[in-house]
Amino acid sequence: MLNIRIDSIAQRKEKPDSDKLGFGKYFTDHMFIMDYAEGKGWYDPRIIPFSDLSLSPAAMVFHYGQEMFEGLKAYRTSDGKILLFRPDKNIERMNNTNDRLCIPRIDPADALQAIRTLVDYEREWVPDKEGTSLYIRPFIIATDAALGVHVAHNYMFVIILSPVGSYYPQGINPVKIYIETEYVRAVKGGTGRAKAGGNYAASLIGQQKADKLGYAQVLWLDGIGHKYIDEVGAMNVFFVVGEEILTPSLDDGSILPGVTRASCIELLRSWGYDVAERKISVDEIYEASKNGSLKEAFGTGTAAVISPIGELNNDGDIITLNNGKIGPISQKLYDNLTGIQWGKKEDIFDWTLTVR
Ligand code: COI
Repeated sequence: MLNIRIDSIAQRKEKPDSDKLGFGKYFTDHMFIMDYAEGKGWYDPRIIPFSDLSLSPAAMVFHYGQEMFEGLKAYRTSDGKILLFRPDKNIERMNNTNDRLCIPRIDPADALQAIRTLVDYEREWVPDKEGTSLYIRPFIIATDAALGVHVAHNYMFVIILSPVGSYYPQGINPVKIYIETEYVRAVKGGTGRAKAGGNYAASLIGQQKADKLGYAQVLWLDGIGHKYIDEVGAMNVFFVVGEEILTPSLDDGSILPGVTRASCIELLRSWGYDVAERKISVDEIYEASKNGSLKEAFGTGTAAVISPIGELNNDGDIITLNNGKIGPISQKLYDNLTGIQWGKKEDIFDWTLTVR
């Protein structure tokens, strides 16, 4: 159990208008920090005012990118309770990422206590308007001032909080997705399954291309043959083909194991749908579109929740899905998932955790 001290109290800022939150633009008054030194372990857990970090310009994170992050949300229920959604899953994934990046693990109970304590301390920042939540961004950086390429001996674990609305300006309206055929995001044996900041840096060039063409996001393909569908970067993807729901399997290790992805699979199976986790080629999806069996597609993610896909562009070959409208399965998943998250529907899987 951590002995979290409140270092000093910030002047409370004015809260942003909950209609204009967008994603990740506003931050709460305080943040959590805990340091690590080899031989000492994680130490000095504290809540301090949200402020700039002071680091040596030689800090290893700036040079070799030894950094990981997580993303989860806190939701306010109509009776004023604050719920976390499956925080154990994010914490488990955090430690899996840490293992891949040679960052020391954090005791899951300590990580949960840090998240709960900070969210509780900042509870007035959890917005109550429908569709809004408090996004929780834990991250770890290597802080040694050293230019040799090696595993760092010192780290900082930080948690910041941001009241958010929808990730895409479109909200739950379908997004247009550009299939990237030149660059790749991850390959087998690389860091694709880890939540490493570097994965996102590598994806920016594709995102920039997509932006220029008026697409919301990039669909990444496998790094070997550019044939099989991996993920969208900010989301995992699902396709409804005939009576089956398909999503890329995690076997190659190049796809992020999303908490929303896992939850959607569990929900869909509990409703009796046939969900297959397997390799899915772009050709297969285009063929299904041609023969009329491709019914809908959607992305899943903590930030994006359920994001229907209205259009795919593969090297100029454009297909429209479900007439560019939200499909029934996307809608049902969105309603049920957010229903559980905001405490409006019975939490039959025991996924939510009350902050206090
Ligand atoms: C999330 O869904 O929490 C993500 O990490 C996606 C993102 C904003 C990078």
